[in-house]
Amino acid sequence: MPYRVFVTRKIPDQGIRLLKEAGCKVTVSTKNGVLSPAELRRHAKNADALLSLLTDKIDADFIGDNMHLKVIANYAVGFDNIDLKAATAARIPVSNTPGVPTDAVAEHTFALMLALARRIPESDSFTRAGKYHGWQPELLLGMELQGKTLGIVGLGRIGFGVAQRAVKGMGMTVVYTDIKRNLEFEQQFGGVFMSLEELLKTADVVSIHVPLLPTTRHLISTKQLSMMKKSAFLINTSRGPVVDEKALVAALKKKRIAGAGLDVYEFEPKLVAGLVKLQNTVLTPHTASATIEARQAMGLLAAKNILAVMVGQTPPTVLNPEVLKR
Ligand code: DGY
Repeated sequence: MPYRVFVTRKIPDQGIRLLKEAGCKVTVSTKNGVLSPAELRRHAKNADALLSLLTDKIDADFIGDNMHLKVIANYAVGFDNIDLKAATAARIPVSNTPGVPTDAVAEHTFALMLALARRIPESDSFTRAGKYHGWQPELLLGMELQGKTLGIVGLGRIGFGVAQRAVKGMGMTVVYTDIKRNLEFEQQFGGVFMSLEELLKTADVVSIHVPLLPTTRHLISTKQLSMMKKSAFLINTSRGPVVDEKALVAALKKKRIAGAGLDVYEFEPKLVAGLVKLQNTVLTPHTASATIEARQAMGLLAAKNILAVMVGQTPPTVLNPEVLKR
């Protein structure tokens, strides 16, 4: 029986088309914004499957009110917006979209790194403001990435993609920290495994690629920032609350570190007071995966996860496969 699918916000069309071709009745929210909890509940009531976004709070209360849902397909790699335990207890399969935005996010991480190191936003404003009056030997000097050390915090798919580009494309050395060692990575790319503390003291650029978990919330706070080199940059394309944003603003104000490139924020979409005024930051609005390729592929993968449940198969990227066992 084809599913009634509710999509909580307009997404690129390929995934929607796939669902429709399979006979699903697809309803896409027409609201130009995040649905309120009441709106989300109202729409979910009449759906078999929910295609949710990272901005939708799928908590235990929501799950409790929507036990009829046959699948929740999150349009993101991160799924900290979903109470997975509650969904599992309710035997609702939940999926995410790992793998498909890896290249987009890894490239964006470099865009932030290069923008900071080569002072691109400052240079752009300077030029547009008509301040460029001729070549100068010391105008807007930056830092080369070649030969520098990149510290990867979390060597999952995206961390690996960033590390690979750093070694192969930029001539950087990579050190990393993770819950487990990756010997293949060490052999192939010369990566050196170390503790977070050691990494913070060693790296010229620290790039964060961990999921948001109780154990990673404020993984980077005042103490950790004080361990970094004064000349180092911090890049965060993972989840905002991994960094204590207030502590980061304080460290940047005091020039405790050289700069930060952020795509995610602790209280997204709000920014902590003082952040926007800082020159030594490059800020993007959670767009690391915002390429046509990645966002289409995320939609397709979310749709495939829904369709797999519909026909009694295991969804390709299900997070709680145990609920599928009869
Ligand atoms: C994710 O996938 O979790 C990103 O934050 C958005 O693409």
